[in-house]
Amino acid sequence: MLSTIKQSLAAGARRLATRLRLARCRAPVRVFGTDLHVGSRPRLWAAERIEIGDHSYLGHEVSIETNCRIGRHVLIANRVALVGRRDHEFRTPGVPVRFGRWVGSVRDPSPFRDDAVVIDDDVWLGFGVVVLSGVHIGRGAIVAAGAVVKNDVPAYSIVGGNPAVEIGRRFASAEEIARHEAMVKGGRFRSSERGFDHFVVVPGPSP
Ligand SMILES: CC(C)(COP(=O)(O)OP(=O)(O)OC[C@H]1O[C@@H](n2cnc3c(N)ncnc32)[C@H](O)[C@@H]1OP(=O)(O)O)[C@@H](O)C(=O)NCCC(=O)NCCS
Repeated sequence: MLSTIKQSLAAGARRLATRLRLARCRAPVRVFGTDLHVGSRPRLWAAERIEIGDHSYLGHEVSIETNCRIGRHVLIANRVALVGRRDHEFRTPGVPVRFGRWVGSVRDPSPFRDDAVVIDDDVWLGFGVVVLSGVHIGRGAIVAAGAVVKNDVPAYSIVGGNPAVEIGRRFASAEEIARHEAMVKGGRFRSSERGFDHFVVVPGPSP
């Protein structure tokens, strides 16, 4: 009984922490879905917009420092960074990089202000992954721990390394992907701050 009460209080504290962390996000446009989790010490900043879809998870010390559109059911591990590829101008003769035009400048707008990272639904970014702006990570892709992603990632591929290259495929065939997508679409999924054993995981019927 006591442990159930403790568990509920801890879960409530974690829900509140996520809300406070999202409230501290700094971006002119912020769109957040439901059933999100944001771990401790995040940095959430963008020149234009940050969008995070329903049922997605951000681990501890995640840095978002570029525009991004993160889909639904996305799992972002601890210490992942989404960074602006050209957020400091470094090719103007006579200007040290420290003083080069910054992507967030209002006085001196950057041509790269709209650059973004796009992460489709059902993607997993492993521990310490770095994704540069301009990259689109396709639906269902897995990015291995420690990867640096500078190119687009095809749907349902597994990529790793620096620069990230394909190291595998998540499913064996297009039919299996179609079955997975149909079952996810028809299913019910919800996380819980009480832990994984309290998640609702009900895939839809197999076509
Ligand atoms: C990518 C991952 C999911 C493994 O996928 P998998 O399909 O089971 O891959 P395998 O272990 O069979 O490895 C396939 C190849 O990828 C390589 N590989 C695996 N992980 C890698 C990584 N992080 N970086 C580079 N290459 C990697 C393997 O060495 C292997 O190469 P080889 O065939 O030349 O030997 C796993 O390695 C990983 O990175 N998981 C993320 C863990 C994490 O960040 N957890 C945080 C909690 S959210």
